Amino acid sequence: MRAVIIGTGGYLPERAVTNDQLAAEKGLDTSDSWIRERTGIGQRHFAAEGETASSMGAAACRAALAQGGADVAEVDCIIVATATPDSAFPSTAARIQGALGVTRGMAFDVAAACTGFIYALGIADALIRTGQATGVLVVGTEVYSRILDWSDRGTCVLFGDGAGAVFLRAGDPAPGDGLLSTHMHADGRHGDILAVDGGAGSTGGTGVVRMAGREVFKHAVTKLASAVDEALEANGLDQSAVAWLVPHQANVRIIEAMGRKLGLPLDRVVITVDRHANTSAASIPLALAEATRDGRIKRGDLVLMEAIGGGLTWGAALARF
Ligand code: ACO
Repeated sequence: MRAVIIGTGGYLPERAVTNDQLAAEKGLDTSDSWIRERTGIGQRHFAAEGETASSMGAAACRAALAQGGADVAEVDCIIVATATPDSAFPSTAARIQGALGVTRGMAFDVAAACTGFIYALGIADALIRTGQATGVLVVGTEVYSRILDWSDRGTCVLFGDGAGAVFLRAGDPAPGDGLLSTHMHADGRHGDILAVDGGAGSTGGTGVVRMAGREVFKHAVTKLASAVDEALEANGLDQSAVAWLVPHQANVRIIEAMGRKLGLPLDRVVITVDRHANTSAASIPLALAEATRDGRIKRGDLVLMEAIGGGLTWGAALARF
C-alpha cells in the first residue's frame, strides 16, 4: 500500500496583525519596511485566548476531511507536528483525536520544529507502506505567539499562529502517483542557533525562541538545496517535472533562492509568508490548503515540499496530488 493525498485543510486565527500594529502594540523599535525587505512578512495571525494547538489543529483536520469527502470513521492515525503543544501530555494529537471523536488507532506528536510537517508526513508514509495505518491525518499546528520574547525584535516579528492538515489514505496509486517519497535529516551539532530555551532540562517553563538569524540563513539554502536534489533523484525526476514548490514559509529570500535553484518562476511557488509569517510546522499544510482551494494545485500536479528548522532538522517530500 502507498499513501494518497485525499484532502488538505487550514485554520488561521481571526486576528491579523500588521507590522505597524505589532510595533505599536508591543512597543518595538522596528518598521514595516525593515520587516518586509528582509523577510517578506506583512502581517501574521495571532490566536485568541483559549485557542490552542489542538483546537486549531482539529479545525484544520475537519477541513481536510471535508475537502476530501472523507469520513472521520476512516481515521486510524493522527500525527501532529508542533513545538507549541497544549501540554507535555496528553499529546496534542491525542487531544485532537478526542475532539474529532476518533476512538481507534494511534495518535502522537512529533518534535522537529519547522521541519515537523515533513517528518510527520514521512512517518505517515512508512506506517501506510507497512500496513500499520490506513487513514492518517498529518497535522502541523502552532501558537508561536506564546513562545516569543517580545523584547527581541530580531525574532518576535517573524512568527505567526495557525494550523494545517492533510488526510492520507492507503491505496494502490499508479506508479508516479500519490506520496512519492520523503527525506528527513538532522544535525544536532547546530542545535544552539535556533532553539526554545524552555522545558524540563532548562528553565522548566515553556521558554522563548532564540535565533542566530544569519547562521540559520547560511544552513537553510545549502541544506534545502541538497534535500530537494535528493527527492528528485530518488524518483528519477528533474526539476522540470515540478508543477509547484510548496516551501516552508520562513523568509521570502530563502523561498526565492530555492525557486531560482529549481529554475521555477515565482508564480509556480506557493507563498504565504507575506500574510501568515512563519507558522513553523503549520506553514506547508496551510499553504497546501490555500493553493488547493484557490485552484492553483490541481489533481495530477507534482508538488515538491521542503523545510528546515530547529535541531537542526531539514527535509523534503514529493507528492503527486
Ligand atoms: N527591526 C529593525 N531592526 C532590526 C530588527 C527589526 N525587527 N531585527 C533586527 N534588527 C537590527 C539588528 O539589531 C541589527 O542592528 P545593528 O546592526 O545595529 O546591530 C541589524 O538589524 C541586523 O541584524 P541581523 O540579525 O544581522 O539582521 P539580518 O539582516 O540577518 O536579518 C533575519 C535578520 C531576517 C532574521 C535574517 O537573519 C534571516 O532571514 N535569517 C534566516 C532565518 C529565518 O528566516 N529564520 C526564521 C525562523 S527559522 C526557520 O523557520 C527555519
